[in-house]
Amino acid sequence: MKNIVVLVSGGGTNLQALIDAQENGFIQGGKITCVISSKPSVYALERAKNHGIPSRVIARKEYTDSVEYSKAILAALNEEQADLVVYAGFMTILDELVVKAYPYKMMNVHPALIPSFCGKGYYGLRVHEEVLKKGVKLTGATVHFVTEVCDGGPIILQKGVEVLDDDTPETLQKRVMEQAEWKILPQAVSLFCEDRLQIKDNRVICLP
Ligand code: GAR
Repeated sequence: MKNIVVLVSGGGTNLQALIDAQENGFIQGGKITCVISSKPSVYALERAKNHGIPSRVIARKEYTDSVEYSKAILAALNEEQADLVVYAGFMTILDELVVKAYPYKMMNVHPALIPSFCGKGYYGLRVHEEVLKKGVKLTGATVHFVTEVCDGGPIILQKGVEVLDDDTPETLQKRVMEQAEWKILPQAVSLFCEDRLQIKDNRVICLP
């Protein structure tokens, strides 16, 4: 059984999708053993508590720089004996020392179709604002492995979502979550836990 550690910073709807998938028996071979939040008092922590999942707060604002913060996160991941680390709305960029310790064992859900609308500065509602500004007709979500390059790791799953003429950033965010993020994140986690993800030449192959 793989230990899944979920990193959060906010409302935690993606965490909830993972919890629901776990409780419905969709995630075989893995179990969410810990939730780590970069902020205190976020609703994601309530969600963990409501489902009996242990949690920790490692507050970003208590650390002066990214390296010291990353060392604290790494120490926690090691203590938790994480086999898979999932960024589920985790809004802090960690130093590469963490990624190097967990190569291809960390995944992130991003609310756009990478390589569009991604990289430093593209997070949360901002992504959807930029999508609307650009006027693209199709957006979506991506789950990818985390590497040293922000939003640049091998892509595991993607799902497209139509942009509607009367969308606001908020309505678009909601639809991207409902139609894409909450579906492909549990799928990717399930595939990983069943050892069905293989990386070849920067491409992720999903084994049957
Ligand atoms: C989600 O839309 C997630 O994809 C996004 O933040 C939201 C968090 O919502 N993540 C990023 O933008 C990371 N670059 P949640 O806390 O309800 O899961």
